[in-house]
Amino acid sequence: MDEKECIVLGIETSCDETAVAVVKNGRDIVSNVISSQIQLHQRYGGVVPEIASRKHVENINVVIEQALEEACITWDEIDVIGVTYGPGLVGALLVGLSTAKALAYALDKPLVGVHHIEGHIAANYLAHQQLKPPYICLVVSGGHSHIVHVKGYHHFEVLGQTRDDAAGEAFDKVARVIGLGYPGGPLIDKIAKQGQKDAIHFPRVSFQDGSLDFSFSGVKTSVLNYIHRLDQKGETYNQADIAASFQQAVVEVLVKNTIQAAKQTGLEKIALAGGVAANSELREVFSTQAPAEELTVYYPTKVLCTDNAAMIASAAYYRYVAGYTYAMDLNAVPSLSLSES
Ligand code: KG4
Ligand code: ZN
Repeated sequence: MDEKECIVLGIETSCDETAVAVVKNGRDIVSNVISSQIQLHQRYGGVVPEIASRKHVENINVVIEQALEEACITWDEIDVIGVTYGPGLVGALLVGLSTAKALAYALDKPLVGVHHIEGHIAANYLAHQQLKPPYICLVVSGGHSHIVHVKGYHHFEVLGQTRDDAAGEAFDKVARVIGLGYPGGPLIDKIAKQGQKDAIHFPRVSFQDGSLDFSFSGVKTSVLNYIHRLDQKGETYNQADIAASFQQAVVEVLVKNTIQAAKQTGLEKIALAGGVAANSELREVFSTQAPAEELTVYYPTKVLCTDNAAMIASAAYYRYVAGYTYAMDLNAVPSLSLSES
């Protein structure tokens, strides 16, 4: 293999997207296929694990073939198989992992296991060719809200995290109670543009001990109480105002703690990652506040913020070139922590 050319096939099935991508040298996307199951889960108001696993089984081979076809490459040209092995839904993870192991074994190619959050962080390497550690990364998704000191491509220190709900989970729950549907984040983002950010004051939680942790269950409960109060008085509520005011409360805390983390560590770069990083208000507030603090903000394109396999292939590349190899007994770890991976 040419030292400078390494092609990774990435596989991601940790939740409700069956995704396969081909990435060159950890930075260049050759193909990135995402088969979303959102429509299937919408009627249940959230992801149903058994349905997710079954759909992954049905989709995975088709998505792999499409990723190879779009990349115009053959199996011989793939150097490494990268796959998410945690955290996530165990049945869903196992579909991607078993497929990756079967491919690695049959093709005699190295297998690299990737932590899903490490993948989200790596999405920034695909969007910003010059970006290198160290930097601060705010990882905000449906299951995670972490402020991470990215010390190296696979060397992380978690500086803050949620003590209850993840940011995306709060978006999804609030969207449900105000009748917007699932998934809530993009719907709140859209309707908030027609609302007043300061119409209703929802709480912004910060901890007295100087911790960079988050808590989003209070803001969610506060939205619920607000709606109940109006219901009891027989009054209607304004969806757009609630969405804009809730979004503002969450965004303010995310931005404040992340900028604080950059100041504490003396780092000048901040990257955003995960589904909530697609939020337009979050991007907007970071883009105005970070330069005022002499910080540079990086964020991936929206399609690379939400779950995809290109980010997994990028993270797998950096693990592979650092010498990490994974045996055929690699198992899915539903609650894998970032420091264990
Ligand atoms: O990273 P992701 O695709 O999956 C997980 O790893 O969880 O993130 C999905 C989460 C969902 O909670 C979704 O509502 C949220 O990201 N999300 C957004 C936006 N787009 C997706 N939240 C706020 N604004 C958005 N534009
Ligand atoms: Zn994710």
